[in-house]
Amino acid sequence: MRTAIVAAMHEELSAVLALMPDERKQVAGGREFWVGHLHGQEVVTVLSRIGKVAAATTATALVERFHVDRIVFTGVAGGIAPGVNRGDVVVADAFLQHDLDASPLFPRYEVPLYGSDRFATDRALTEKLAAAVRQALHGTRLHRGLIVSGDRFVSSATESQALQRALPDALAVEMEGAAFAQVCHDYGVPFAAVRTVSDRADDAAHGDFLSFIDQVASRHSAAIVEAFLRAG
Ligand code: ADE
Repeated sequence: MRTAIVAAMHEELSAVLALMPDERKQVAGGREFWVGHLHGQEVVTVLSRIGKVAAATTATALVERFHVDRIVFTGVAGGIAPGVNRGDVVVADAFLQHDLDASPLFPRYEVPLYGSDRFATDRALTEKLAAAVRQALHGTRLHRGLIVSGDRFVSSATESQALQRALPDALAVEMEGAAFAQVCHDYGVPFAAVRTVSDRADDAAHGDFLSFIDQVASRHSAAIVEAFLRAG
């Protein structure tokens, strides 16, 4: 069983990499893939970089070149729904691209020719990830549900409120998950994702994001990934 552990930015993955005793670097598609072990399990860790295209390239390489059996994404997100606050954790049950609009050819948000606007994450893998969060981060508020992705850093109250009105069940926003979910759907590879809320996607999002990513993101990711892999 080979597990891919992915984050978008170095700050979100550095503590995970530090836990690998034997990683070997392999370059593909301009990215560094670290192949080795963590808690005795075969893992490939990689930085996807930011945005949906970078995410799709990374997911495809993980499947085609590194033959991973399952993919776990970890990182940060902006809270959108009321009550999804900085420091909370969101585990995704499904992803949607909030910036996809092929109307009037297809309904708003629908991924053309898939007949749906959302891709579910793998149920069993998602349960395992949620259990790992509960174990690793006692006392942290855990939300489950829809995460939306788009090629925008949402950084104004006006925009986040518009998102909330348009997609009332969206818990959080980020920039990669929906691309991973779609590629994993295409290849039939189980996918799960966890995001710690770094900001509220409002006028303070920029500063909140930068301070959080520096201080908390990597520690959270490492604790969750460790608990997840320890469980098998
Ligand atoms: N990732 C973390 N915060 C975000 C935000 N406000 N918008 C998009 N992606 C994010």
